[in-house]
Amino acid sequence: MRGGAKQPARWHPASVVLHWLTLLLVLFQFWIAGPMRDESRDLISRFELYQRHKSVGLTIALFVVLRLVLRLVVPQPGPFESNPWLRGAAGTVHACLYLCLLALPVTGLLLAAASPIQIPTLYFGLFSVPHPIGPNPETYRRMLAWHGWAGNVLIALGVVHVAAVAVHMLVWRDGLLSRMWFGRVDRRRV
Ligand code: HEM
Ligand code: HEM
Repeated sequence: MRGGAKQPARWHPASVVLHWLTLLLVLFQFWIAGPMRDESRDLISRFELYQRHKSVGLTIALFVVLRLVLRLVVPQPGPFESNPWLRGAAGTVHACLYLCLLALPVTGLLLAAASPIQIPTLYFGLFSVPHPIGPNPETYRRMLAWHGWAGNVLIALGVVHVAAVAVHMLVWRDGLLSRMWFGRVDRRRV
């Protein structure tokens, strides 16, 4: 879509909604991971918290897939950066953010499935999500480590991403954020 006459000035409203909902859900995931693993809590409330973590995580996966499909079917705005290095850096960070947002639900589902303690994954209590593998201590340990790693990488990338947006808004004052919101776009550089 680059340089096309019909290239929109901002992201499609559906992509905007999914971007900000994903941010809220990801913050929720990091917050709930604390109490759900707190061994001083009673088992029933921990079970509920685990189910919520797993359901919200799978919802994030669904949102990411929807956003990637939207990128293919709806015209997207062109790259914001004119400097090729900054354009490459922004594209790489965005791609890695998407990768982490997919790696977390995949490793999460596999670790839940491979866990020596077999607990079904109930999607918001509505239906049971099939576990693709059975209990396996080695796979469980590996997926748990990868899940933790992906979480740490996501935090690092999120910091870089937010810092980059802050530089655009506060130093360069070029209106980047208006591309990821509704209504009028600041057209200075778009
Ligand atoms: C983007 C989505 C997700 C994020 C950001 C996320 C984040 C986290 C974090 C930060 C932890 C704590 C890890 C640690 O302290 O070592 C955790 C643990 C866990 N996550 Fe996720 N998670 C996500 C999706 C999922 C999904 C979809 C599932 C399963 C269907 C899942 C299952 C688990 C389980 C079972 C644990 C606890 C492991 C243990 O017993 O220690 N997660 N997650
Ligand atoms: C306060 C926090 C955040 C702000 C202000 C923000 C802002 C933005 C803006 C303005 C864009 C559009 C860039 C452009 O037009 O070229 C964008 C894109 C993006 N953001 Fe964020 N973001 C935030 C948090 C996050 C988080 C936590 C994630 C991941 C979990 C994330 C993932 C992405 C991705 C993947 C894109 C690329 C969209 C695409 O190319 O399809 N953002 N963000």
